[in-house]
Amino acid sequence: MDRTFVMIKPDGIQRGLVGEIISRFEAKGLKLSASRFENLPDTRVTEQYKEHLAKPFFPSLKQYIMGGPCFLMVWEGRNVVSIARKLIGATNPAEALPGTIRGDFGIDIGRNVIHGSDSPESAIREIAIHFGQNELVSYTRIDEAVIYEY
Ligand code: RTP
Ligand code: MG
Repeated sequence: MDRTFVMIKPDGIQRGLVGEIISRFEAKGLKLSASRFENLPDTRVTEQYKEHLAKPFFPSLKQYIMGGPCFLMVWEGRNVVSIARKLIGATNPAEALPGTIRGDFGIDIGRNVIHGSDSPESAIREIAIHFGQNELVSYTRIDEAVIYEY
C-alpha cells in the first residue's frame, strides 16, 4: 500500500478541525497508520519545508508552523498521495474548490489548515523526517474487502 504524510497545521488545531479532517480521510476509505500531536522543533520544520528555504515566505511559514501544536499523520491506501492532495485542495484556500478541506475551511494562503505530501517521493522523505519505522502500525481495516475491487 502507498503512504502519505499529512499534517494539520496550528490554525487547524486552534479552530477545532482535527476531528472533521480525520473523519474525511476515514470516510474516503484511507487507513491511519501513525499519528502524533506535538510542537514541531525548528529542525524538523526546516527539513520538512527545505524546498522553500530560499523563498520570501519561508520565515513566515516557519513562524506559522511553529506557532502552536500540529497533528501529524501517516495515511495509507492505493494512490493515497494524490487522493490526499485532492481531499486537501489547492494551496491557496481562496481558490480551493468547495468540498476540499482548504476550500471549506480557509481563506488565506498563509493559514491553509493542512499539509499533504506532493509526490510519493516527498511522502517517503517526509514520513522519515517525522516518524520512525516502528511507529508505523500495520493492520487490516475490516472494510478493505469492500473498498477495493481487487
Ligand atoms: P503544503 O506543502 O503545506 O502541503 O502546501 P502545498 O504543497 O500546497 O504548497 P507549497 O508550495 O508546498 O507551499 C508550502 C506552504 O507554504 C505556505 N505558502 N505561503 N505566502 C505565500 O505565497 C505562500 N506560498 C506558500 C503555505 O502554508 C503552503 O501550504
Ligand atoms: Mg508542499
